[in-house]
Amino acid sequence: MSTELPSQKRDKVTTQTVVDMKRHGEKISMLTAYDFTMAGIIDAAGVDVILVGDSASNVMAGHETTVPMTMDQMIYHTQCVVRGVDRALVIADLPFMSYQVTTKEALKSAGRMMKEAGAHAVKMEGGDTISNTVRRIVDAGIPVMGHLGLTPQSIYKFGTYKVRAKEEQEADQLMKDAKILEEAGVFSIVLEKIPSGLAKKVTESVSVPTIGIGAGPHCDGQVLVLHDMLGLNKDFSPRFLRRYADLHSEMDKAVKGYIDDVKSGDFPNENEQYK
Ligand code: KIV
Repeated sequence: MSTELPSQKRDKVTTQTVVDMKRHGEKISMLTAYDFTMAGIIDAAGVDVILVGDSASNVMAGHETTVPMTMDQMIYHTQCVVRGVDRALVIADLPFMSYQVTTKEALKSAGRMMKEAGAHAVKMEGGDTISNTVRRIVDAGIPVMGHLGLTPQSIYKFGTYKVRAKEEQEADQLMKDAKILEEAGVFSIVLEKIPSGLAKKVTESVSVPTIGIGAGPHCDGQVLVLHDMLGLNKDFSPRFLRRYADLHSEMDKAVKGYIDDVKSGDFPNENEQYK
């Protein structure tokens, strides 16, 4: 019998690969990316799934929330990422108000993300309230990833970025929403900033993989924002974040070194000029 894991079997990761990974107990690695260069690096390193998150609004555009992101901006970032990727599954966030108004508009937005941007799937925030729209998009042949718990597009409704679903009523609703999304046909669900016990219950009760961020170790996979895990953003240190590098310090050191060399006349030297 083959001992290969699902992610090792196929060259390209598909939505079916990630569903198989849950069945085989293989954890799914997911990171965000917003541009060609970074996408190429993390794809070559072997990440399974790349999310073109609307967190681009924060880390690329400098907004406080994800609310201002537009379809055209998300399409641009997704096109850049897709050009850098050979193997990973590329999922693009549908931005705020591109899918909440009517199902028809949502279907058009999802279609643009596939046709114009080259995404392999789209992600949408919400449960019961968007389930009919999710079903319609999936029926059209577009894979959808759900997103429950802290849903940053609703920040002005929540008022804070604190942990969600700590109270029984909200936890019960989240469990129901996960089942509703599964029935609507999502291939996976992001669980953001919820208690780990609840994430475990959701993970055990749905057949599709859950991907956690601030949702503990029991999810089928994990996602982090690339800039955060690389330590580019030194002012953002929530409890769930593990930093794998300190690129802020590295860049600071490199840029200061360059400035010193230019000012002192050390750069460029003999070998760094044309004759
Ligand atoms: O936009 C994003 O980066 C996300 C992840 C945090 C899941 O939605």
